[in-house]
Amino acid sequence: MSFRKIDYLTWARTFMGRSRYDLARSNVKAVTKEEIELTLDQIDVSIPDPQGNEDLRQLLAKRYGVPASCVFITNGATMGLFLACAATIDRNDEVLLESPNYEPLYRIPMQFGANLKMIERRFDRGWQIDLEELERRVSRSTRAIVLTNMHNPSGVATNPEKLRTIGQIARACGARVIVSEVYLDNVFASGHKPAATYGDHMVSLGSMSKVYGLGSLRVGWIVGSEEVIDRLKTIFDYVAGGLPGPTQSIALAALKKSDVLLARCRDIVQRNIKAVSEWIKKHEDTTWIEPEGGTVGMLKLPPHVEALGLATLLREKYSTLVVPGDFFWVKGFIRLSLGVDEEVVRIGLKNLGSAIEQMRSPQR
Ligand SMILES: Cc1ncc(COP(=O)(O)O)c(C=O)c1O
Repeated sequence: MSFRKIDYLTWARTFMGRSRYDLARSNVKAVTKEEIELTLDQIDVSIPDPQGNEDLRQLLAKRYGVPASCVFITNGATMGLFLACAATIDRNDEVLLESPNYEPLYRIPMQFGANLKMIERRFDRGWQIDLEELERRVSRSTRAIVLTNMHNPSGVATNPEKLRTIGQIARACGARVIVSEVYLDNVFASGHKPAATYGDHMVSLGSMSKVYGLGSLRVGWIVGSEEVIDRLKTIFDYVAGGLPGPTQSIALAALKKSDVLLARCRDIVQRNIKAVSEWIKKHEDTTWIEPEGGTVGMLKLPPHVEALGLATLLREKYSTLVVPGDFFWVKGFIRLSLGVDEEVVRIGLKNLGSAIEQMRSPQR
């Protein structure tokens, strides 16, 4: 079996961390040991249960309102997505995906030989999923609907009623809904709930990487029915002999302080949303749908500005990194990080303004 390269990740590995103003990241800036007051005795070096550290699963189970048997710890949400898809999709099954999309969510089902159908999230509809389109696209052959909530790249949230309806549509045709919720713990509005709480055909994927600022741990989780968890235990045996225990115990220590970490993330992101909104007011030919939380947002560029060219100019001349929307299959947009220091955002935006001006009158 040959695996196709994931273009976005190839690009990210080439360029991320090399620009002074890195607005390409999707994580809130990394937390320190001091911020989570990590002590050596919290680090557990014993071999954890293959399904994951028992205490960590108990903590997550309580949050999701499910038994610990419905929680499986993974190597980040990436492994979660791979396992959830492997447990759901066979060759030629139909899978519904959103567009714009985070590329691995597209490549993984594709790699399993699924027939992919796209549902379009449009800027002029606030990047929201259109239920009528979804209903038109599902069929008796649909095995999975794979979504992000909050949406990557736009940072908008799917309201709880809509998520429930999506679940009902999926259930009616015998499909599973797999939702990457790696940004959801930083949703500003109340009332949002993880997909897995809406029924046993719904699967939630979570992670320490994004809003908790602990990507180095490579700890994520799947919450789903016992039937799903049983299936993915078998698949897991093909890809890993287990996951490191120490990082799971650090994740546990951090999640015990999740109110502190989430307040930190919210504060950083809200400051940066304000900075971007102020900048947009002064640059009337750019706009966005203000993110509802998470750590990223999508900026709509003026009509004459092509995103790939702009990103290259910003990188090469201004040491500023942004992700062209092209990596998410949308033209005329860039994705901005809202999780970095405000100063980085403000200087990055100033550079963005200069680069857009330069593209408007290239002789300068
Ligand atoms: C929507 C979405 N899902 C999953 C992931 C992967 O997260 P992790 O670092 O936990 O593997 C990302 C990373 O950017 C993402 O944006």
